[in-house]
Amino acid sequence: MKKIQLIIFLSAACVVFMCGRISTTPYPFRELIFFPKMPVSPGNPVTVEGAGIGRYLFYDPVLSSDSTVSCAGCHNQERAFSDSQHEFSTGVNKGITSRNAMPLFNLAWHPSFFYDGRAGTLEDQVSHPITAKNEMNMDWSLLLTRLNANKLYVTKFREVYGSGKIDSTMVKNVLAQFLRTLISHESKFDQVQAAKRKFSTQEFNGFRLMNNQTRGDCLHCHPTDGNGLITTLKFSDNGLDEAYSPEDYKDKGRGGVTGNVKDNGKFMIPSLRNIALTAPYMHDGRFKTLEEVLDFYSSGVHTSVNVDSKMSFAYQKGVKLTETEKKEVIAFLKTLTDSVFISNKEFSNPFIK
Ligand code: HEC
Ligand code: HEC
Repeated sequence: MKKIQLIIFLSAACVVFMCGRISTTPYPFRELIFFPKMPVSPGNPVTVEGAGIGRYLFYDPVLSSDSTVSCAGCHNQERAFSDSQHEFSTGVNKGITSRNAMPLFNLAWHPSFFYDGRAGTLEDQVSHPITAKNEMNMDWSLLLTRLNANKLYVTKFREVYGSGKIDSTMVKNVLAQFLRTLISHESKFDQVQAAKRKFSTQEFNGFRLMNNQTRGDCLHCHPTDGNGLITTLKFSDNGLDEAYSPEDYKDKGRGGVTGNVKDNGKFMIPSLRNIALTAPYMHDGRFKTLEEVLDFYSSGVHTSVNVDSKMSFAYQKGVKLTETEKKEVIAFLKTLTDSVFISNKEFSNPFIK
């Protein structure tokens, strides 16, 4: 009850405080049948105009110290906003990131961000790449000086905030708004769920294998039955590495953030949407193809100290799929590709008309 009151209060405050002077349009989010209800972003409601500025910033290398790298440089729309070229991505001064760039979609539902969940909100998340030495290596005061000298941004921010004096909160808010509009919900899989199309026999077999606890056993972490997000959004160790003690994990993942050794080796469970587009796979991009991923889940799993109890077949190194079954799972995974999303002009580079 309290939460609802707070939300009503905040929206009312926004109307009184901002909308008197400025005309913004609430972003027309659609209710999606197989998705959980979208959490609201108190204090930063998404507007068409705000997300529109975020889109410009996302594609603008002005955000990096030497003006060479934009967000889109590592998050490419054709690849569902992941960076398919490399295991690790390259930022300013040829700086290399320590993890594989994540795809960007359906983030409005995520409770935290990055493989280790170190950012609690999107507003906080966006400042990490801007200031990271190996990404955009940018200083906030320099960025604000640049933006405040840029007519395009001064005019656009004035339309949304009434003030053309751009500050870091405004920049973070509009980037977060743009990210919340990146929604992927139009794959073949979605159309099958909505009874508009049918799986081929091979795809259907793959779907059944993934949802069968005694066969593929993927469902506890990557649910594909009635859950549009296709992830539980929890942290988990899926047995990628041999670790006899919590200290053995090369990348501590969630443990690096919480300081709890029981979290070492745990990473945010990725959605499998658009998975055929986002190679290489896992936090360090160790697998180049989906075939390699399926070989891992079939016969390469380790019984490491923190391995998730839901990796029920870790004791026998994996779920032991036959070659035909692996092909069926991959055929199903390919139905999760959303070609409408990756070619949606609303999300493309606004500098290219
Ligand atoms: C040099 C490459 C690079 C640039 C530039 C970059 N990113 Fe990223 N991005 C990454 C990597 C790598 C990760 C995963 C890092 C991790 O988990 O530690 C990531 C993760 C993210 C995530 C988390 C997604 C999730 O599911 O939790 C978001 C959101 C994001 N980036 C948005 C942005 C925005 C916005 C910009 C521009 C302001 C940007 N990125 C610039 C490489 C980059
Ligand atoms: C116990 C939870 C769990 C189960 C069960 C599980 N996964 Fe995963 N999966 C994860 C985690 C965690 C990651 C990310 C690990 C990392 O990057 O370190 C992941 C990553 C992946 C990736 C790579 C995603 C990316 O964006 O790089 C694919 C593909 C995948 N899983 C498919 C499957 C399939 C197919 C099955 C069933 C055969 C399965 N998973 C079972 C937890 C699980």
